[in-house]
Amino acid sequence: MSSEEIEKIVSDYVERQGSIIAVLEAVQNRYRYLPEEALRIVARQTGRRLVDIYGVATFYKAFSLKPRGKHLISVCLGTACHVRGGQAIAEEFMSQLQIKAGETTPDGEITFETVNCLGACALGPTVVVDGHYYPHVTRSQVGGIIADALAGMERDDGAAGARLFPIHVSCPNCKRSLMDYDRRLDGHPSIACVIAYDGRKGRLGLSSLYGSRASEVELEVPMNEPCRFYCPHCHEEMPHYSNCVECGSPMAALYIRRGCAYEVCTSRGCPGHLLNLDQPNMK
Ligand code: FES
Repeated sequence: MSSEEIEKIVSDYVERQGSIIAVLEAVQNRYRYLPEEALRIVARQTGRRLVDIYGVATFYKAFSLKPRGKHLISVCLGTACHVRGGQAIAEEFMSQLQIKAGETTPDGEITFETVNCLGACALGPTVVVDGHYYPHVTRSQVGGIIADALAGMERDDGAAGARLFPIHVSCPNCKRSLMDYDRRLDGHPSIACVIAYDGRKGRLGLSSLYGSRASEVELEVPMNEPCRFYCPHCHEEMPHYSNCVECGSPMAALYIRRGCAYEVCTSRGCPGHLLNLDQPNMK
């Protein structure tokens, strides 16, 4: 690490984005923590007071002022995960890693932390390793998750929408599972729907990795044209409760659990999708 290198990282981001958080993320991604010198350089280059930069760096739990390990394991202890056994999962990690929350293993490989909510409450207890989500974790999976971390997973730098984790959805009308275990996308069972366009119908396979918009469409549909989504079991149309923030088309709502929906833009080619954890129509 050199002052020149930090100066360059900071100036690149200041010129391109001007956001303090983006600059700090860039520095942390490079060094795995925020060295004091970097905070001073960010303050100088952005014209902000050092105390303000320090305030941002300490407010967000994603930032660390201490060196972190190569891999970061985060266990959620938010309410939804806590009631499903998150504390026992955290204890199992601490026992196997032989460190406490906030510490790094002596070999510098793994930093372990507990967090308050990872935004995937329906999947709790939730564990995240380098940005990869593990849903419904049990104590017996802890050793395997540590092994995955050590083996190395592609690091997700926290970019919005880049996080990938598997979801399981059902039809909101008949509640039958939409998971197709025979046809996989992104290495996971796909979500099977039927789409209709211009009086014709065909199979639609969606990736069940939240954050991925990989799909297979067995119907000719022009790009940017909205379609209708149907359940392959009960043949009812998937309900629409909101419109896509990307293109304004209706979103098809798929059932995750009571009050929780996976909403997908119905417009061909649009990447809009949303994990709605507060959808009162999902009963
Ligand atoms: S409470 Fe754990 S992800 Fe929200």
